[in-house]
Amino acid sequence: MTQTATGRKLNVGIVGCGYFARIQHLPNIAKSKHLRLRAICDKNNEQLEKTAAQYNPDYASSEMDDLLNDPQIDIIFLVVAHDLHTPLILKTAPSGKAIFVEKPMAMNMKECGLIVKAVRKHANQLMVGYNRRFAPSILDVKKAYDKRKGEALITYRIVADRKRYGGGRLDMRKWGGDLLGETCHIFDLMRWLTGKEPSKLYCSGGRDDNSITTMRFGDQVVSIISGGIGDLRYPKERLEIFRDRSTIILDCFAELYDGLYHPPVESKNWLFRKDYPVGLHYTGGKLGNGIEVYMKGMQKCIPVHDAVKKRTGNYEIPIPEVDKGHFGEIEAFAEAVQKGRRSPVDEIAGSFATLCPMKAFESLKTGKAVGINPGEYFKK
Ligand SMILES: NC(=O)c1ccc[n+]([C@@H]2O[C@H](COP(=O)([O-])OP(=O)(O)OC[C@H]3O[C@@H](n4cnc5c(N)ncnc54)[C@H](O)[C@@H]3O)[C@@H](O)[C@H]2O)c1
Repeated sequence: MTQTATGRKLNVGIVGCGYFARIQHLPNIAKSKHLRLRAICDKNNEQLEKTAAQYNPDYASSEMDDLLNDPQIDIIFLVVAHDLHTPLILKTAPSGKAIFVEKPMAMNMKECGLIVKAVRKHANQLMVGYNRRFAPSILDVKKAYDKRKGEALITYRIVADRKRYGGGRLDMRKWGGDLLGETCHIFDLMRWLTGKEPSKLYCSGGRDDNSITTMRFGDQVVSIISGGIGDLRYPKERLEIFRDRSTIILDCFAELYDGLYHPPVESKNWLFRKDYPVGLHYTGGKLGNGIEVYMKGMQKCIPVHDAVKKRTGNYEIPIPEVDKGHFGEIEAFAEAVQKGRRSPVDEIAGSFATLCPMKAFESLKTGKAVGINPGEYFKK
């Protein structure tokens, strides 16, 4: 296992300096209490040079081996296309370094098996980028949810704008589609929120990127609406939890209600309401708080974003952002590595969130509910 020491920052090597590393991980590492950027790697030289100039690592290389052979690097971040996750985890494992891999951990269960075996053999701490568990607003939801007395009915709607990402993202072999590449977040979130293992799943839909999945986690009933046919000017995500004759609603990580939603003005009897900060990607700018601010920001920024992207091909144009836990997750992992503790989102969680989309594909194909056995992801 990698040498770690409390009291010093851990050195990070980033493999993949594309859209997501640039929008989240690099700026987050720059403000981290626990991490410092040692090295970056990308096969695309233009990307590598631009990122090096902006983030000033100790060195930049197009060869991942340079990072793996560097004894000063404690954690390797893998921020690449989905079909590269497994090969690059397997390549990193023998170095003994801690590994942060973006979601989904793997493309299928066979790959999950190889990953579990490798990280156990080489004692790597492995973290999968299921960030939503670390969002401040979701942590508030969890506190309220955990106080419930009885069963719950949970709906999570995640409808993105897949066209925005361009042609390559629609390549199923490379990216795996919405259920694997995006809804995996929500499968992970529901297991974490309910604290229970599901026994079966049913998925209905026209295509893999436009579906409704229902699941039972013990006495908690869950429905996940997932799609790639939205427009970001309408908020992408919403969580509703009915329990104990009242409702928790989280609107796109920007606004949380607990109690009665939109009560009559004369009876302001909701129990709890909170607005969360809304910022701007790339700039760190602040727009204000709450869902109205977020939506107004989207209405204004999306047409500009789309026009500039169409004209120049550059998509690094600010649009509103809310805290979905991307900073919290890397800080939590860094602390686990420093203290030699288990990763907060380990290879078992990664396997679970890969298994659910596989089950959903099976259910879509057969038109039947499919059983889930924890033995399929809790590997001995
Ligand atoms: N957690 C989230 O909220 C979230 C959101 C968006 C993207 N992501 C994840 O981030 C990951 C990357 O997505 P992206 O949008 O940044 O992709 P991207 O295509 O923009 O960037 C990937 C980069 O990896 C580089 N690369 C490819 N093979 C390489 C190799 N062998 N060695 C070094 N560099 C290599 C490419 O040149 C490219 O610059 C995906 O797993 C995606 O799911 C996560």
